[in-house]
Amino acid sequence: MTTPKAEPVLHIQDDRFTVTEWRFSPGAETGWHVHGHDYVIVPLTDGTLGLEEPGGVTRQAALTQGVPYSRRVGINHNVTNLGKAPLAFLEVEATHDHMMDQRRMVLARFIECWNLRDLDGMMDCLVEDCTLYAPDGSVLQGMTAVRAACEGQVNRGRWTEPTQMVLGDTGLCEGRLAGSPGLTDAWGCEVFQFRQDRIAVRRSYRQPCPD
Ligand code: NI
Repeated sequence: MTTPKAEPVLHIQDDRFTVTEWRFSPGAETGWHVHGHDYVIVPLTDGTLGLEEPGGVTRQAALTQGVPYSRRVGINHNVTNLGKAPLAFLEVEATHDHMMDQRRMVLARFIECWNLRDLDGMMDCLVEDCTLYAPDGSVLQGMTAVRAACEGQVNRGRWTEPTQMVLGDTGLCEGRLAGSPGLTDAWGCEVFQFRQDRIAVRRSYRQPCPD
């Protein structure tokens, strides 16, 4: 006799979450699987799970309706309904944020291209109607204006190991700018606003280095 399988019902699948309801008849199992994401289980019924784990380990876990628990990526097991009644839970997986990855890559590339004086590379990171605010308050509007300004700007500092981060739509770059010959070093901070995976706004701030 074959063991019945738990039935997955997909409720949500977007860029951040996958929510699956698992329904088990008595004795049903998921089959062996490895969790690819951190996840939260929300029991929809009371019940008893049988857990088979690598190395021949078996154990039981009591489920209480509405009492959630969390687990981390990499859990490897087979899950069985040991009870006499049907059992169900919601599995909420925190899936990968690809947009955030893209933004981090674009920010890193923008900084790298700035250091290399790679204008084409910098332009690839911007939206067409970008707005760049310079430390002196001047404003560059649109990619053509930015390109023209950057072409004339040979004596600018290079970032040396800046701190870079992206949080939501906002990016940040902070660190020391090594001066070109004839220029002194400066501390710099740039705050970026992303539109999708491109930079729409950049505000630059500078502070003289005392040493
Ligand atoms: Ni599982």
